[in-house]
Amino acid sequence: MTTQAIEGGKAKRKAAKQAKTDAVARAMALAPDLAARIGSTPKTKFRGDPGVFGRLVEDHDKHRALLAMIEETAGKSPERQRLFEELVKELKAHAAAEEQALWSTVLRDPETTDDARHAIAEHKEIDDMLADLAARDMASPGWLRRFAGLKDEYLHHIREEEQEQFVAAQDHLQPADVRYMHRVFNRRKKEEKAAAKVEKKLKLKG
Ligand SMILES: [Fe+2]
Ligand SMILES: [Fe+2]
Repeated sequence: MTTQAIEGGKAKRKAAKQAKTDAVARAMALAPDLAARIGSTPKTKFRGDPGVFGRLVEDHDKHRALLAMIEETAGKSPERQRLFEELVKELKAHAAAEEQALWSTVLRDPETTDDARHAIAEHKEIDDMLADLAARDMASPGWLRRFAGLKDEYLHHIREEEQEQFVAAQDHLQPADVRYMHRVFNRRKKEEKAAAKVEKKLKLKG
């Protein structure tokens, strides 16, 4: 390996580390007294990338931190209420903007239709789980158990996006598309988040 390649690799790792630290710090700003134990994150080449995929991973890392922080809260505390509301709005706005900016285009290419379909179907499942949790008593002991189910589902979703669907999408997109998607995502995420509401609806049994 050339010195240049080694230096390039180092710079990339540094950018990835910084991107993750910044994303976690944004979540922690909402409840500075809580720890965000997100642990090690699954490997992805997109973390710290200046394009749309790096931007999406930045959101994912913030979501990982929010999920970990909610697990540190107890009962119907103001912190749990505030963080859960933020999580719902973040996840809804992220999913909607990701569909509008990325998956709608990826869906139109027969080579990647299944990747987009998979991600969108999981968005619906996650949305149902969020509405179900919102409809239940946060103070009950079962709430955190149900929340752990949502956390597993969401962590699975974003790991698959980062390691499978984003990889397939990038292979089939032109650099100009990716730049355009980055702008669309930023604009749509902001608008979707401002309009996002916490829906309460029991959807799951038991
Ligand atoms: Fe997604
Ligand atoms: Fe995502």
